[in-house]
Amino acid sequence: MAMIASKCPDITVTVVDMNAARIAAWQSDKLPIYEPGLAAVVSGALGRNLHFSTDVVGAIKAADIIFVSVNTPTKTYGVGAGRAADLRYIESVARTIAEHASGEKIIVEKSTIPVKTADAIRTILASNGNGLKFQVLSNPEFLAEGTAVADLTNPDRVLIGGERTPEGEKAMQQLVEVYARWVARDRIITTNLWSSELSKLVANAFLAQRISSINSISALCEATGADVDEVANAIGKDSRIGPKFLKSSVGFGGSCFQKDILNLTYLCESFGLPEVASYWNQVVTMNDWQKSRFTARIIKQLFNTVADKKIAVLGFAFKKDTNDTRESAAINVCRELLTEHANVCVYDPKVPAAEITADTLGPGQMNSRLTVAPDAYAACAGAHAIAVVTEWDEFKKLDFARIFAGMPKPAFVFDGRNILDLDALRKIGFCASGIGKPSA
Ligand code: UGA
Repeated sequence: MAMIASKCPDITVTVVDMNAARIAAWQSDKLPIYEPGLAAVVSGALGRNLHFSTDVVGAIKAADIIFVSVNTPTKTYGVGAGRAADLRYIESVARTIAEHASGEKIIVEKSTIPVKTADAIRTILASNGNGLKFQVLSNPEFLAEGTAVADLTNPDRVLIGGERTPEGEKAMQQLVEVYARWVARDRIITTNLWSSELSKLVANAFLAQRISSINSISALCEATGADVDEVANAIGKDSRIGPKFLKSSVGFGGSCFQKDILNLTYLCESFGLPEVASYWNQVVTMNDWQKSRFTARIIKQLFNTVADKKIAVLGFAFKKDTNDTRESAAINVCRELLTEHANVCVYDPKVPAAEITADTLGPGQMNSRLTVAPDAYAACAGAHAIAVVTEWDEFKKLDFARIFAGMPKPAFVFDGRNILDLDALRKIGFCASGIGKPSA
């Protein structure tokens, strides 16, 4: 919304939320999320045509277009628990709009939702007694965290789905005109509602599938002496495959990939397609295995016991340039190391220490064994092993000779992101290993 406000000074954008603290934070010097370049976009439009408010009803009444951008987490209870999307926030917003809106409105699904959600929204809105005339559009978001501002400024495509009726086409065109202020028209795609809703889930499933595919090959590389980065480079040069999203890692994290694939598999099953569901489910299974494989290797190489050993975990965010830790591979790695009674010391440049707690890791974890260090050197001091879990640039520039001097020997490095120079580390004296890399 800040990007729309920034690119369209004549459009008034009001972001509303019931959470007053969050609304206040968006208007302060310290935004509630860390995202490179975002502060400048927000401050450029704030107070001009970008407003933040807790007056949800007032904003609904005043708006021509309403973007529904609420959480759709995985359901934790009842039917579909652990897989289906929890749609209670979507329904609650639809009901609030139905209660207070009148005149003509366009309702835009921005949240990632299961296919056919627009049907539910339409049915609820139709119960409005104030003569509301509405169109429901789907306009999924494809930005990635850490590169959000660049992705929004120059998107590969903008997708808008709507009803293929004259009223639906008119509504889609109105939204096209908003994006056309800064996005080339041939990158703005319009489709029917269901194609748009489904494309969001499918895009994430395909991206995650590439990571699980290369991660599966990383295990084979370790077994054979091949180098996964060399394999990725060789296959990525084929223009039909392409080079992106082939970086082998300790496993993908983030709030979207796993959630969306589970949602997709649940949808497939609901539509009687168990074979399709199990095909995509394998992407998540492989990712879980990759995360555990990384920890298992640490334990094995540390002579099958990490009990009472200090392990430095570098990085806690699910990727670099964000402070988001949702579904981060670091959570699994720390949890499994703590279960083996290791003393885990975490350092992350952006994640607040208050978010790196035993509670984040799930029930039954030991607080006393989990500590947070103020910098990478403090985390590594006295550690038996270092595990790089997030690919922060600053980890590449560390003085590893200095770190080596302060560690008990043999000193181990496990690079879960393949960002370090393993040969250079081995020259210093480290027992160093990467993902899908030949051993020394
Ligand atoms: C992802 C998609 O890339 C966006 O297009 C989508 O809009 C977003 O989900 C969403 O649905 O909201 P995001 O989760 O922010 O974006 O970040 P990604 O860059 O996709 O990374 C996801 C995870 O995959 C990270 O843990 C990352 O480290 C990992 N990854 C990514 C790899 O392990 N290897 C790669 O080659 C690429």
